Amino acid sequence: MEELYTKVLSDPIFKCIGQAADELQVDAYVIGGFVRDFFLGRGTPKDIDIVAVGSGITLAKKVASKLKGQPRVKVFKNFGTAMLKYQGWEVEFVGARKESYQRDSRKPIVENGTLEDDQNRRDFTINALAIGLNAHIFGELLDPFNGLKDVSAKIIRTPLEPSITYSDDPLRMLRAIRFATQLNFEIELRSLQAISANKDRISIISKERIVDEIHKIVMTPKPSVGFRLLHETDLLHFILPELVALQGIEEIEGQRHKDNFWHTLEVVDNIARATDNLWLRWAALLHDIGKAPTKKFHKKIGWTFHGHEFVGSKMVYKLFKRLRMPLNEKMKFVQKMVLLSSRPIILSENHVTDSAVRRLIFDAGEDIDDLMTLCEADITTKNPKKQRKYLNNFRRVREKIVAVEERDRIRNFQPPISGEEIMHTFNLRPSKEIGIIKDAIKEAILEGEIPNEHDAAHEFMLIKGKELGLKQHI
Ligand code: CTP
Repeated sequence: MEELYTKVLSDPIFKCIGQAADELQVDAYVIGGFVRDFFLGRGTPKDIDIVAVGSGITLAKKVASKLKGQPRVKVFKNFGTAMLKYQGWEVEFVGARKESYQRDSRKPIVENGTLEDDQNRRDFTINALAIGLNAHIFGELLDPFNGLKDVSAKIIRTPLEPSITYSDDPLRMLRAIRFATQLNFEIELRSLQAISANKDRISIISKERIVDEIHKIVMTPKPSVGFRLLHETDLLHFILPELVALQGIEEIEGQRHKDNFWHTLEVVDNIARATDNLWLRWAALLHDIGKAPTKKFHKKIGWTFHGHEFVGSKMVYKLFKRLRMPLNEKMKFVQKMVLLSSRPIILSENHVTDSAVRRLIFDAGEDIDDLMTLCEADITTKNPKKQRKYLNNFRRVREKIVAVEERDRIRNFQPPISGEEIMHTFNLRPSKEIGIIKDAIKEAILEGEIPNEHDAAHEFMLIKGKELGLKQHI
């Protein structure tokens, strides 16, 4: 006797789909993420996947004709799917199919199939749960692979032999790792082995889809779970070799450096507790990538990573380009965070002077708070005394930032004297002297020699002009 899961179908839209399916005399089921998330208690997602044992497109059109306002049906003929939006729902319709894949492509050869064929071709048992919508099967769960058991046991398992499922669509290797991270599930051992064995097949997946999954892992509460799995299966090597290069501890003459890969993962987990900003989380992931190419051992001082922030920020561009990530202000933000990532630390280790704080605010601008968040996440010492000390240092830096900013307004620094004014004062045409004077004014403000105000800057300009042998015109 099948159990009835009518609670998941409480919204009238499901009755409507069922009636439309009855009229067309095809069976229809809700399947995939919607059902999975219901059983996981993750609330009700806005996306509903419907599978029809017949034409998904015809069913979509019939459903639309029965709904208030008759929503538009978007048909994707090539995929044999159709989609409509209704009262906040996004409903996707597909005909049940049987798929067979070729080795060099994600594009399958598709034939019509039964519900079971369709469930077989899905990625994981927890995503293959289907609930009937027609009157004669309304609320019946069809769970041929014990997906519900896997939901309770928190297991990611494939309906078919894992190597078939992953080889058919290698994106699923990343989906497995992403679901394991998002849901706090284990990947079944056979599956994990199949991922390792098929890892090279990731090369047929588009960069955009890969990055989509990485973003989702980065946005989980504990991204290290996913990155550890990516590392263990060696997929990370294909996606972010810069991180793999950080792994390992070298020892020379009894001196060791920390393992920057595992350190990075801790930093990412730390920052995930502090922010939902995707790009700040990416900055945490990449903040040390310059350490692999800059690592050196010096007999006197031990291990150094001189200039790793600068090298790292340059690597960010190449990495974004390779992964077809946006080369826009998001990338610039990540570069900036990487470039400045050590500044607050250096600052907090010394006496925190006003001028050092002003320079930091000037360089970080609007992103100063994010930079401080990154630096706090960067504290991974296991020594509670040291941890308290570092956090206290950063607290002092933060307080000083607030105080200096209140007084000097450096954050969105606008030169108090414009180039126009300099030209006018000394009767100059555009020339390098203008740049020299502007720069000198900025330096004087950052050094605290003059306040960030027009009159003081004007005075300073006159002195500087005189030094340069310029004559005052007015
Ligand atoms: N699916 C699959 N293989 C894929 C992608 C999707 O078998 N590579 C199937 C799964 O049954 C999945 C359904 O298609 O549940 C819908 O896919 P999608 O909307 O991408 O994912 P969801 O499972 O709904 O989850 P999320 O929205 O978190 O990605």
